[in-house]
Amino acid sequence: MFDDCSATTLDSVIRSPFARLNAVLDGIEPGGTPINFSLGEPKMPLPSFVQPELTRHLAEFGRYPPISGTSELRQAIARWLERRYPALNGTMDAQAHVLPLNGSREGLFSAVFPARARKPKIADACVLIPNPFYQVYAAAASVAGANPVFLPALEQNRFLPALERIDASLLARTLALYLCSPSNPEGAVADREYLAKAISLARRHDFLLFADECYSEVYANEPPPGALEVALAETGSFANVLSFQSLSKRSGLPGLRSGFIAGDPDFLSAFARFRNVACPQVPLPIQHVSTAAWGDEAHVEKGRTLLRANLDAADSILKGRYGYRRPKGGFFLWLNLANFGGGEAAVKTLWKGCGVKVLPGAYLTKPQAGQANPGQDFIRLALVHDTDTTREGLGRIVAALG
Ligand SMILES: Cc1ncc(COP(=O)(O)O)c(C=O)c1O
Repeated sequence: MFDDCSATTLDSVIRSPFARLNAVLDGIEPGGTPINFSLGEPKMPLPSFVQPELTRHLAEFGRYPPISGTSELRQAIARWLERRYPALNGTMDAQAHVLPLNGSREGLFSAVFPARARKPKIADACVLIPNPFYQVYAAAASVAGANPVFLPALEQNRFLPALERIDASLLARTLALYLCSPSNPEGAVADREYLAKAISLARRHDFLLFADECYSEVYANEPPPGALEVALAETGSFANVLSFQSLSKRSGLPGLRSGFIAGDPDFLSAFARFRNVACPQVPLPIQHVSTAAWGDEAHVEKGRTLLRANLDAADSILKGRYGYRRPKGGFFLWLNLANFGGGEAAVKTLWKGCGVKVLPGAYLTKPQAGQANPGQDFIRLALVHDTDTTREGLGRIVAALG
């Protein structure tokens, strides 16, 4: 049932959805003041500590930063993990379990190389990727010499890959499984039971679970469970499990380029050796801002207040239309526009008709063998603006589409 894209070429994988969107809208005049819902870039005000921290440490742009992060930053991350996931309390070793990154994307990409090196003998190695997916997963697999294998994450599976349907021969040659929860674009949340299943599979077949948790702090009510707390609860160890987290969505600081990877100390030690020679350091002033950001929850709660208001606006404007569901986590809406010619046609209609920019779902999905592209009917819409802009944009969509 899964596509083993052994013939996947780099060119077919590396296709930025945003470059494709710009190309498809090129030459079409927006039919109103543009509102951009296509990009997952939170628009909340900068947290108040950013400027003073940067100013205080400005001179440190004159020094090469430690690639494994300052001990203050690693401590701040370890303590944040323990507060966020109380089951981790007293277990996070800031040296062994945590590594700062230049945004989670850098780590999601570069971690595949040491994952490949862990299993050098597998000739036809593969990386398992949910479909829809964040494009970086597939690009990383391809350049690391592994086949990206796409696992449908459809509505009938609660928008998560059906783990029990992956066959043993595929699992035997798997280097890593990417799992995004809360998921982009569907807003699905993997519950503890699902995470436990994924972890047990990873351990049984000795591959890595790359848990992309960069939306872990973007939720209206219930904090989504995390892979590390479930790993620890199951066996008292982080073996085979890595969590990727970010300040981009949590703190509204996508331009800071700051995140971290945490978990399996053996893998982290190999990854740190690889990063020492292959990846850029996080600049020191950015590390200081990041230390402050992981230590503060007030600004994150403000972001969630805004998210709740935006989701309430979406409930009242979109309920009963376009297959709208209030997402369990993250700030994306995944809307079915099959009745409007499909995602790409609707994107053009909306831009031309009312100046609203959204992303065609098909740019985030791959066709499974012999089937239509599972994203072709959909659009992705990011609720990242203030509530007045959100109401205005959603209202324009309904007026333009009916
Ligand atoms: C699913 C997913 N993972 C990872 C990232 C990377 O985030 P960053 O590198 O800003 O931490 C993004 C960014 O949009 C994303 O949507």
